Amino acid sequence: MTKILAIESSCDETACAVLDEERNILSSVVTSQIDVHARFGGVIPEIASRMHVEQISTIVKEAVERSGVRVEDVDAIAYTIGPGLIGSLHIGAAAAKSLAFFYNKPLIGVHHLKGHIFINELIEPLEYPVMALVVSGGHSELVYIEDDEHFAIVGTTLDDAAGEAYDKVARILKEAYPGGPVIDALAKKGKKHYDLPLPKVEGLDFSFSGLKNAVLQMSKRLERNGEELVKEDMAYAFQETALKHLMVKTKKALEIYPAKTVLLAGGVAANSRLRELMKENITEQKLILPPLNYCTDNATMIACAAFHYYRQGRFVSLDASSRPSMSIEE
Ligand code: KG4
Ligand code: ZN
Repeated sequence: MTKILAIESSCDETACAVLDEERNILSSVVTSQIDVHARFGGVIPEIASRMHVEQISTIVKEAVERSGVRVEDVDAIAYTIGPGLIGSLHIGAAAAKSLAFFYNKPLIGVHHLKGHIFINELIEPLEYPVMALVVSGGHSELVYIEDDEHFAIVGTTLDDAAGEAYDKVARILKEAYPGGPVIDALAKKGKKHYDLPLPKVEGLDFSFSGLKNAVLQMSKRLERNGEELVKEDMAYAFQETALKHLMVKTKKALEIYPAKTVLLAGGVAANSRLRELMKENITEQKLILPPLNYCTDNATMIACAAFHYYRQGRFVSLDASSRPSMSIEE
């Protein structure tokens, strides 16, 4: 059975996993730098690359040992080729290339967002065409997938990504980075109190910066007037508005594109309210929600996508460049 060793290092997680083609996870090791970046309120690219350098060998070694598979016996080495932070991407690429060179294995350069999409295969096989709502720290996209080789971005954000908006709103509320889980938890305790405007954007595109600014302006006004800012209620208002925006566009996309399956992908897919709303609103297509512990960055997802590249015979050479702003349509 085909086995793939995969490495992910595009942002602030260093990860390595070994999977077989039936998607059995033989090992999956992730270490996050979140605690370090939290002090600065966001990911500092230079620190991220240095920390990947410190972690990568240990993580790969641990993943190989835990898998019980020798590197000699895997069929390919996969890594995230892009998009992501260039310094971070380089570290995973160097590790993957060293292994591929030393053990004489084919090398697969995986698109990070395809990883977030194909992790859903841990739940069940995808039935095409698929509409994916990809919502992470760097991306908010509606991706229409005709088969595992054809990806079309049919809607995208005009400014901030959804996860980025969560992180920025958490900062406005003086809460920790990453903001997604914090706002998710605060909003559960909040109630309808503040009114925020639903973003108005033509077609299937998104916009989150106006909403983030509305939170900032309202927070400043309350402070100026000496009124209390109820964080839970502000988190509730932001989340309900942001997620309504995502749901309206997703439903609109499904009126235009005949998808059989709808799935969530990316870090924001861990959001409890978004998962609830998807279940309520997506009733005509098959809905797949990614496993909670594999929504944020990990290497299992890179391996899941890599099996498709492997079957398609899509390999890269040892001199392949990392691609910080690679499009999923390529
Ligand atoms: O996919 P990911 O791990 O990294 C990127 O590829 O960007 O996504 C990280 C993003 C962060 O912005 C984080 O705040 C957000 O996912 N996130 C969440 C939740 N958990 C993580 N957003 C909303 N609700 C959550 N529960
Ligand atoms: Zn990601």
